[in-house]
Amino acid sequence: RLEVTETFAGIALPGHLHTQESLRFASSFQFRDTDVLIATYPKSGTTWMQEILTLIHSKGDLEAAKTIPNWDRAPWLEHTYSKDLLQETSGPRLITTHLPCQVLAPALRKSKAKVIYMARNPKDVAVSFYHFHKMAKFLPDPGSFEDFLISFLDGTVQYGSWFDHVKGWLSQQAELELFYITYEDVHKELGRSVERLADWLGCPLQPEEIREIQQHCSFSSMRENAMVNYTLVPCEIMDHSQGRFMRKGTVPAPPPPPGGVTAVKGLGSSPGLCPSTDCLSLQPL
Ligand code: PPS
Repeated sequence: RLEVTETFAGIALPGHLHTQESLRFASSFQFRDTDVLIATYPKSGTTWMQEILTLIHSKGDLEAAKTIPNWDRAPWLEHTYSKDLLQETSGPRLITTHLPCQVLAPALRKSKAKVIYMARNPKDVAVSFYHFHKMAKFLPDPGSFEDFLISFLDGTVQYGSWFDHVKGWLSQQAELELFYITYEDVHKELGRSVERLADWLGCPLQPEEIREIQQHCSFSSMRENAMVNYTLVPCEIMDHSQGRFMRKGTVPAPPPPPGGVTAVKGLGSSPGLCPSTDCLSLQPL
């Protein structure tokens, strides 16, 4: 395992991808008004949003989506390789981050850059993250699901607490140009979600362009696209014998709420999140 950890703003991050220098670069980044930032806690639909936004920008032209890996089209601001890549890009930039809001908000407030915050039901995030730990050699061995779940709920996993991440970004809705969407929204209505995002970004699309994007961004289509399914990552970094990055891509039907649980514990009621989410009954899918 490539298990070096960097700690920044009190959060543990994989040292294989981050250094203090790359994290300082991210936290003092000069956003441009034309930038679009995808902000997510890991396993919340980041790759899906990278694909959707690539295709909104290209008005459904598949060229970039089929020839350029997602990490080059929408680089993670905080990763070691991004500094040169982002500084060299002159046109509108699509940028990705898993960093918490408190690290980026001061830099973001200096521009009119647009932020798309995508959240996912924490039960599914925990399960997806657990499986990803088994594949990704830059993350620690997760141990049993039960042990991993305790760390996830405590917020001691890499990238920190899901609860703090979601609360932090949502608390800035009035301060930033922020569009909030959930994995569950996109799963339920992909075409409508594409349309809403495109309108908000000021790039309205024709119905046939939306249909093209919808088709290309389906789970089955993305699962076969080497530019987004992470099969290009060498085995020393991702152990492909442990599973696939594009694993299930499902939203389980919520169980009937026992006693009417209506809020995510620790988050309060949050529009868009599965209303029956009860973090105490997390189970592996
Ligand atoms: S990462 O590592 O943080 O960038 O991962 P991220 O892309 O945020 O999340 C990976 C999960 O998103 C699912 N995914 C999709 N679901 C439905 N449709 C599409 N098109 C799609 N693309 C990615 C992916 O399968 C991971 O979820 P799980 O539950 O593990 O399948």
